[in-house]
Amino acid sequence: MIKDLKTVILAAGKGTRMKSDTPKVLHEIFSKPILGRVLDSAILSGSKENIVVTGHGADKVEKYISAAYGDYAVCALQEKQLGTAHALMSAADKLKGYEGTLLVLCGDTPLITGKTLFDFVKFHNENNADITVMSALFDNPFGYGRIVRDGNNNIKAIIEEKDADIETKKIKEINAGIYCFNWKTVKDGLFEIKNDNSQNEYYLTDLIKWGIESSKKVFPYVLQSGDEILGINSKKQLAEATKIMKMRKLDELMDSGVTIVDPDTTYISPETEIEPDTVILPSVVIEGKNKIGKNCKIGPFSHLRGDCVIEDYVKIGNFVELKKATVKSHTNICHLSYVGDSFVGEHVNIGAGTITANYDSRTKTKSKTTIENNVSIGSNVVLVAPVKLGEKSFIGAGSVITTDVENNALAVTRSPKKEIKNYIK
Ligand code: UD1
Ligand code: MG
Repeated sequence: MIKDLKTVILAAGKGTRMKSDTPKVLHEIFSKPILGRVLDSAILSGSKENIVVTGHGADKVEKYISAAYGDYAVCALQEKQLGTAHALMSAADKLKGYEGTLLVLCGDTPLITGKTLFDFVKFHNENNADITVMSALFDNPFGYGRIVRDGNNNIKAIIEEKDADIETKKIKEINAGIYCFNWKTVKDGLFEIKNDNSQNEYYLTDLIKWGIESSKKVFPYVLQSGDEILGINSKKQLAEATKIMKMRKLDELMDSGVTIVDPDTTYISPETEIEPDTVILPSVVIEGKNKIGKNCKIGPFSHLRGDCVIEDYVKIGNFVELKKATVKSHTNICHLSYVGDSFVGEHVNIGAGTITANYDSRTKTKSKTTIENNVSIGSNVVLVAPVKLGEKSFIGAGSVITTDVENNALAVTRSPKKEIKNYIK
């Protein structure tokens, strides 16, 4: 059954254990804040209206949300961080009059996928549930809230680590911190939650007990793999999540026919598309959004920094850095080059150590380099943008090119060689 869906993402917490001036949810995985990754999954699950609860570092978080998700998300301020239930209360104003399904997510669980959220919401709606709680079985459940079940295996309550006795601590089923609510029937319960616990916080998890006591339909939804709900609370967990996200991408690419020679040293962002029969050699880092064609060879030691479109049969070699570059088919950029804000045509050969000088640090502006089809560039050339090299032009090694070069021309800027005979006595 399709019902209205809105999402609240709790993102006001301080993230003390990150030991950082940056708000926890703005720490990045593959150059995207973890909050953005949670929002992407919410949007993929079908939630077009999303409310992000901000608090710690609210200015920075709000700036990011309005720049990156202006059409999809608004922020609600939680001035004091008094707990997860209090965080949801802070979003209640923005939900006035809403009576549909409400998905609640934490801003610090970036591995959750849109597909899982979609299935979760579907399960909640098909059961006509009031509350559905996502859980998983963890070998090491330390730190998470534990799912307590009764003799009939029905969910009874969620107990936080800090409030748990020895027996409760042994429970391996943990609360993911992801919930679906029938907002119409559940919102009153939210405002009844008290803060009588070890942390004097308003726990959203207490809504489960309220639901059961007031005869609401409460369901658990157990995930098969716990990976998706890994919460980021420390730099170690950030690295762990990066690794999982990277392996997901590499597995997907290898399954689709891309050769990854050494998965351990290869980093490819989830936003990169690569066609079959392309080979990725060791120690390659690909960030941001990129498209790479088939039968290319990338690496070893290449760095693509985003917004790159690489067509078929292209070679990008060692110590080559690309940013905002389009490279047409059968072109080679094999050694020690930087190509940024550039268009590079077909069958171009770029010699070792060629640099596009695209950035003016005085004016902080970038300019474009255009290299047309069949251009040949010798080694150690600087192309000072804006500049255009016409078709089949030939650039001599060691040149600094500051103005456009015509089709079929040879351009060379090189001081004449001086040779002093018998200089060494
Ligand atoms: C919470 C759950 C726990 C669950 C775990 C899953 C509660 C009481 N506990 O614990 O059962 O196993 O998540 O990862 O809900 N936040 C606010 N405002 C606040 C407090 C928190 O917005 O006042 C936000 C945080 O930014 C974070 C999320 O809520 O994104 C969860 O808070 P966190 O402090 O990480 O809770 P956990 O201790 O991990
Ligand atoms: Mg947490």
